[in-house]
Amino acid sequence: MAACASPLLLLLHAALFLAAGCRAALDDPAGLLRRAKEAEFVEWMVGVRRRIHENPELGYEEFATSELVRRELDAMGIPYRHPFAVTGVVATVGTGGPPFVALRADMDALPMQESVEWEHKSKVPGKMHGCGHDAHVAMQLGSAKILQEHRDELQGTVVLVFQPAEEGGGGAKKMIEARAVENVEVMFGIHILDSLPIGVLASRPGPVTAGCGFFEVVISGKGGHAALPHHTIDPILAASNVILSLQQLVSREADPLDSQVVMVGKFQGGGAFNVIPDSVTIGGTFRSFSKESFDRLKQRIQEVIVAQASVQRCSAAVNFHDWPSTPPVINDDPELHDFFVQVAGEMVGPGNVRDKQQPVMAAEDFSRYAEAVPRTYFYLVGMLNETRGPQAAHHNPFFTVNEDALPYGAAMQAALAARYLFEHQHVNAASKAEEPHDEL
Ligand SMILES: *[C@@H]1O[C@H](CO)[C@@H](O)[C@H](O)[C@H]1NC(C)=O
Repeated sequence: MAACASPLLLLLHAALFLAAGCRAALDDPAGLLRRAKEAEFVEWMVGVRRRIHENPELGYEEFATSELVRRELDAMGIPYRHPFAVTGVVATVGTGGPPFVALRADMDALPMQESVEWEHKSKVPGKMHGCGHDAHVAMQLGSAKILQEHRDELQGTVVLVFQPAEEGGGGAKKMIEARAVENVEVMFGIHILDSLPIGVLASRPGPVTAGCGFFEVVISGKGGHAALPHHTIDPILAASNVILSLQQLVSREADPLDSQVVMVGKFQGGGAFNVIPDSVTIGGTFRSFSKESFDRLKQRIQEVIVAQASVQRCSAAVNFHDWPSTPPVINDDPELHDFFVQVAGEMVGPGNVRDKQQPVMAAEDFSRYAEAVPRTYFYLVGMLNETRGPQAAHHNPFFTVNEDALPYGAAMQAALAARYLFEHQHVNAASKAEEPHDEL
């Protein structure tokens, strides 16, 4: 074909190409989704996800998962640094210079037994990828592949963060302390969602997930024979009243329009039908979307437990675990929200973008990155396909991942990062061009 192309014809082709809008492949979200949906690309991501699913690892123990990530990055020729926070991996694609745009995937599983009977069921008793982090890792490797295929187009550097211990282990905080996101200007976080239809991308301005704290308290009385209650101080009765009183913190003291949760999920004490125990341990969680409400709940939980226990002559030692706890994820950058809606619309069509998604009371330690990165944004990828039957929820032993969602996450993260660099590199180039004027 090249033999019969005259120089004039080539020139004509170039002109037509420019007239049609010479668009970089990475600047075409719909094109990236088509790439991620190609059969061999999907097959590879599905394979990665299933290998991780079979061998779930808890927070800071993601050694095999981390090794798998590094092997895949090696195969793609993508450089990375390791370890961060024990098992974390930070890979980079692009110029190696600013701006730096970070993407985040979490690698840890949950301490729960999988009940789904299938070929790739968890091989580790009592451990399961019951939240979908196996899918997040596969998606992020997918983003890496897409970006690497067009790395020469990148107008800056994409930083791919694979973090440990999202499920209550404070992995994000430790990644920040290990300087994984130094100089990063913007960071995008992603989560698949069981209740959101496949093909839909969703987010909202403002709070997306709740701030989450944990409390545990030992309520101490004086044990003895059940037939001689007047010689004892009963901590079971005191703990029961404490639990009832805690219910009123939300129902009587919180603004009904300001969603909050206080819940006791642990109640341990006693072992015999006719013995009053010395002490009882109870524990629970509290959640809210604002720092003010969160701080108020913490203070009132402490006060109510101690005061209510004292009504029955018991003492109470309250312990707020993992403090400081996980803050709410808040999309507080309206410009980034518009940016997400634009890119998502170009990828899946505006009809498949939900820009006012309901927030959820679940917590997500992506919120930590907002303490270290100037701009952060979090969004959700749908995976519900009702023709495939009902979808069990996250953290349920029957939870499954609809692997059809993998291309959406892979393409969307890559598209956000690439587009951000296209837009902001122009800004940087323009401001550089103006610099001499500033100095005049
Ligand atoms: C939903 O599942 C059906 C049955 O497996 C499949 O044919 C269809 O393509 C799926 N829809 C999407 C949007 O993935």
